[in-house]
Amino acid sequence: MKFLWTALLSSWLVIGGLVYMFFIKGSVAEANDGRTAIVLTEGERDFVLAEMRGFLTAVQQIIEGVDEKDMKKVAEAGKAAGAAATRTMPGSLPRKLPLAFKQLGHPTHKAFDELAVEASDIGDAGHVIRKLGSLMTNCVACHATYKLEVGTK
Ligand code: HEC
Repeated sequence: MKFLWTALLSSWLVIGGLVYMFFIKGSVAEANDGRTAIVLTEGERDFVLAEMRGFLTAVQQIIEGVDEKDMKKVAEAGKAAGAAATRTMPGSLPRKLPLAFKQLGHPTHKAFDELAVEASDIGDAGHVIRKLGSLMTNCVACHATYKLEVGTK
């Protein structure tokens, strides 16, 4: 009986260790500026950075759309940075990204989708700007914590 418990416990530890390695920790190293470096292949890094430039374009278009009182433009820009933007993600990426990174990334895409829907449904400029200001705390928080490095790990 004792043996069974020991066997059960050690298999839980192994499973726990694998879950930690594959879903929580990601492919990380300590960066020299104090942030956490996520170590990716060149292709994976290029994908993440292209996604980031998409975020920046969306922010610019949303602000311009609000100024021009063009909620259609706001909604389109929001949608472009929404969850659909992650559909072409390389299959190798989710395992390499730390869980905390994904917990900042997914809600950011989701918030852009919500902003798009609210821009079409409510169409209130103040609301859009508040939503943008609030979702951009994710940009700030993630950039303060993570950087990308190319390498093998
Ligand atoms: C989940 C984490 C995360 C979130 C959220 C995030 N970024 Fe980033 N972003 C990064 C990382 C990591 C880099 C690479 C920084 C480095 O290596 O120093 C980056 C880089 C960038 C770059 C540089 C792109 C290039 O081609 O070099 C831009 C622009 C950018 N982010 C804009 C944004 C904007 C705007 C938002 C919010 C709407 C945002 N990011 C949200 C993690 C994030």
